[in-house]
Amino acid sequence: MKRKKLDEAADLLRERAGGTLDAAIVLGSGFGGVLRDRIDASPLAYKKIAGMPEPTVPGHAGEALVGALHGRRIVAFSGRFHLYEGYDPEDVVFPIVAAAHAGAKTVVLTNAAGGVNTDYRPGDLMLIADQLNLTGRSPLVSAHPFPGVKDRFVDMVDAYDPSLRSLARHIASEYAIVMHDGVYAGLTGPAYETPAEARLLRQMGADAAGMSTVLETIAARALGVTVVGFSLITNVHGPGVKTSHAEVLAASQRGAADIARLIEGIVANLDAPVPPIVGALDEELLHVPPHAELEPEPSEASV
Ligand code: HPA
Repeated sequence: MKRKKLDEAADLLRERAGGTLDAAIVLGSGFGGVLRDRIDASPLAYKKIAGMPEPTVPGHAGEALVGALHGRRIVAFSGRFHLYEGYDPEDVVFPIVAAAHAGAKTVVLTNAAGGVNTDYRPGDLMLIADQLNLTGRSPLVSAHPFPGVKDRFVDMVDAYDPSLRSLARHIASEYAIVMHDGVYAGLTGPAYETPAEARLLRQMGADAAGMSTVLETIAARALGVTVVGFSLITNVHGPGVKTSHAEVLAASQRGAADIARLIEGIVANLDAPVPPIVGALDEELLHVPPHAELEPEPSEASV
């Protein structure tokens, strides 16, 4: 990862946001549109951001929504880079690293995942409590890890921040959103799991499996960025159950509204005490309108 490109990307994100970012959001498959009308920003095409990986197939790579959400400067990345597309781990984590260099101290990761816990049902939400990186890859494997990494031997205990998880649980209960607490296994894909693999994942301690997120969490932790993650369970593996991409996308669209509420609740309460005041979330906690004006501030040195 080139320092110059990274600095350029971070400068652009700061410029578009009107100052140092507070948080970054990564929108998983099917959730791309959820914050579009909530963030006061015109979309920034990935191709305009220096250092962003090139799309593997011509066409729409993705876009960043950079602006204000509930009084915080944020970037929401709509469009991810996956190992199964042939990207390297450094490409996969580039958006996270760029946002961190633009000042983001928190990342909210979302994904679609397949349940291997047979108590789960399609459409359920899971708060990620921990992860299994089963990709065999890491963004920190390099003679020179990306800029900002001080120690490549990063601690991964509480990689998913306990305070933000507690906040997420409060928001979910406020909206009567049923949310499991589970372990996310990240695999390379793109084939879905065989029944034997799904059983193995369960025995290993996974509750859900997907093809993203784990490398982003490692990169964020290596930069000291706090992580919270949500999986929408789009399908559940079980005897005789087949998995299709169309089914996964349809289910993720059905869960998008709940994901949006959780993201907004987290962003609105980033510096609130935990547990937050529950009772009337819309008035009490989401007191800052989504498009609240922010004072422009001079850009700061990157991490
Ligand atoms: N496996 C891996 N990734 C997924 C799945 C699955 O069953 N569903 C959605 N993403």
